[in-house]
Amino acid sequence: MSIAFLAHLYPWTKALHIIAVIAWMAGLLYLPRLFVYHCDAPPGTQTSELFKVMEFRLYKYIMTPAMLATFLFGILLALTPGLVDWHAGWFYIKLAAVIPMAGVHGMMSRWRKDFLADRNRHPQKFFRIMNEVPTVLMLIAVIMVVVQPF
Ligand code: HEM
Repeated sequence: MSIAFLAHLYPWTKALHIIAVIAWMAGLLYLPRLFVYHCDAPPGTQTSELFKVMEFRLYKYIMTPAMLATFLFGILLALTPGLVDWHAGWFYIKLAAVIPMAGVHGMMSRWRKDFLADRNRHPQKFFRIMNEVPTVLMLIAVIMVVVQPF
């Protein structure tokens, strides 16, 4: 399961994949930090309205395009001849970390909309814990693709 001409594009596909991953991770790690601070800003205040704008811009203009680019270039890499041994386990474990990461992205979209409508009910501690989830998934994804232990 591979497409021959992708071999010529490999350095570019990989560079773009890594760039997209960095931007996506930056958003996945920073947006919950904004939620933590937003919890301290009562609805209707200028600070709360400012957080809404920051959250919107980060989510819409950085995180979502970066996630789509990560998937696009990741799939192109997976289709590049010789990169993925489909009988080895590492690629599937990487996918098992990446798919929940997209799920976390979707949940952050919901929490962002809750803050936008002034109806967030989660405490700061919840967002602090949620901050760690993408970190753990990222560790698994990177170790699988670089070390390929299985
Ligand atoms: C649909 C999602 C994804 C797919 C299909 C995918 C697939 C791949 C493939 C096939 C490679 C090439 C491996 C090689 O060159 O030997 C790669 C490289 C890489 N991926 Fe992903 N990936 C995805 C998402 C992610 C995510 C979410 C992260 C990190 C959080 C990530 C981190 C990396 C890194 C750091 C490399 C470079 C590894 C190296 O230089 O050897 N990928 N990816």
